[in-house]
Amino acid sequence: MSKPPTQPPEINTVVAAVLAERAHLPGALLPVLHGVQDALGYIPPETVPEIARALNLSRAEVHGVITYYHHFREKPAGRNVLQVCRAESCRATGAESLLAQARARLGCDGAQHLSADGGHSVEPVYCLGLCASSPAVVLNGQLHARMTPQRLNALLDKTSSA
Ligand code: FES
Repeated sequence: MSKPPTQPPEINTVVAAVLAERAHLPGALLPVLHGVQDALGYIPPETVPEIARALNLSRAEVHGVITYYHHFREKPAGRNVLQVCRAESCRATGAESLLAQARARLGCDGAQHLSADGGHSVEPVYCLGLCASSPAVVLNGQLHARMTPQRLNALLDKTSSA
């Protein structure tokens, strides 16, 4: 039997604390995954076996949920996180071109969400509840509605110089 991979103690501590707090909840997997990501910024793949064991699930089940939801990250995010809504209303009002603009400016292509310098992540999201004020983005947790190419550039100017 192979030895499980070692991981930094802080990751073990975080996962243990989240499991102690949430593993007993009905449908605990999503609350646990949210807790781990909230604490670490992502869900390290090496934590999947421990989460699966604690919740009496298979590793494939846990991994399947992590990869199904765009919200969950398997790698650390950049220092700044830009999320661009790609749901219907925002798509109809220019979100795809905003996403392309951000990716081109920051050097993130569709497969690589992290800029080369690690300064920014660009992530798609699917409805932020601001459909009446589309297109909408979130930068570092702050919502911005009625986004335009000019306003997006101004926002990224601030985070690029920070
Ligand atoms: S579709 Fe973008 S906020 Fe709802």
